[in-house]
Amino acid sequence: MTKAEAAALLKKERTEFERIKGKGLNLDMTRGKPGADLLGENMDLLDLVGSGTGFKSEDGTDCRNYGILDGLPEMRRLFAEMLGCKTQQVIAAGNSSLNLMFDAVAQGMTHGFGDKPWFSHQPIKFLCPAPGYDRHFAVCQHFGIEMITVDMTPDGPDMDAVEKLVKDSAVKGMWCVPKYSNPEGITYSEVVVRRIARLTPAARDFRVFWDNAYVIHDLTDETEPLLPILPECEAAANPDLVLMFASTSKITFPGAGVAAVAASESNIKLLRTRMSMQTIGPDKINQLRHARKFKDLAGLQSHMERFIPLLAPRFNAVIAVLERELSGSGVTWTNPKGGYFISVDVLPGTAKRVVELCKEGGVTLTAAGATFPCGRDPRDRNIRIAPTLPPVTELEAAMELFSVAVKMAALEQLSANS
Ligand SMILES: Cc1ncc(COP(=O)(O)O)c(C=O)c1O
Repeated sequence: MTKAEAAALLKKERTEFERIKGKGLNLDMTRGKPGADLLGENMDLLDLVGSGTGFKSEDGTDCRNYGILDGLPEMRRLFAEMLGCKTQQVIAAGNSSLNLMFDAVAQGMTHGFGDKPWFSHQPIKFLCPAPGYDRHFAVCQHFGIEMITVDMTPDGPDMDAVEKLVKDSAVKGMWCVPKYSNPEGITYSEVVVRRIARLTPAARDFRVFWDNAYVIHDLTDETEPLLPILPECEAAANPDLVLMFASTSKITFPGAGVAAVAASESNIKLLRTRMSMQTIGPDKINQLRHARKFKDLAGLQSHMERFIPLLAPRFNAVIAVLERELSGSGVTWTNPKGGYFISVDVLPGTAKRVVELCKEGGVTLTAAGATFPCGRDPRDRNIRIAPTLPPVTELEAAMELFSVAVKMAALEQLSANS
């Protein structure tokens, strides 16, 4: 394409951009938040504990009072079923799994995991499969942990790279979102899960941070199976390798749900001792209402099924606009079967510009680069789309704007380079 042709096309796209901008969109799609309709499916939760309902957990504990650091037995059992481990391997804690992950890294830094505090070995490194979850990377940045990017494959992290990298004793951890990963929606294959469980890191206090945030978050009536990792670690005589995290944030109310950590009994003992310095116990009233609502894994699953007709049309709307507007353009995107995000790879070198144009047109997206350590996407091409909050009509308008922005950014690059 000549410079003049690119400039003419750019002018045409700019006119379209101005037309969509004229609709006065004002959409914040920066984070994966459930829409009001999803939140509405949980309102009964608020009536399950109140005056007249009783406050006793199944072991007779009065949930209004202090106590039970590990969380209610029924809530631990529910998480154990959800995560594929034993109840005694679970602590049901406060409202945020990110908080638990931050605390676990902080503990590693100041007290270690069975060896010296991590900070006494400098530098400390973490493996960061990318694209990944920006807040994992932010935790590393906060503690001055060096991040090593590992490529994601359709089966999970590039395990050849991981197996080599853990031979460095400075590598103390690895982030994983093993099911419907953020942002690509990838579920780790059995082979990848087994290879992770069998890792032989040089650092014996190396830990895998297994963030199972989307463990039961299907978008269709089929689930992508994920091998439970704790039994695999036991079978591989590597029981202490993994610290697993999850929460009900995208099941009930984000910020007002229940979070959990699951690990070997010896890891749990260590975490419990440390936790006992932080708190006398979690919010058991909230745990009680969650346990009463779901009862068991079947209860959880049937609750999650109610989200599918609310979420799937949103994801389908995004994919339909991408297919209509950008098929054959070299832009690629994921079509996940679960989770909260769609990951788009625009033309290299244009992601920042696309996000900037969308902002100008009234749609705020997750910052370009956020899905990579230190916010730096080496190819400046990955953008995370979070379709769970806006209604379908707004999503369609937002994705039309996005598609025009993708074309404009590519044409701007072309006309600058040709
Ligand atoms: C992969 C992942 N982990 C953790 C969280 C946050 O979980 P929580 O609300 O339990 O802190 C999110 C939220 O978007 C997430 O995408």
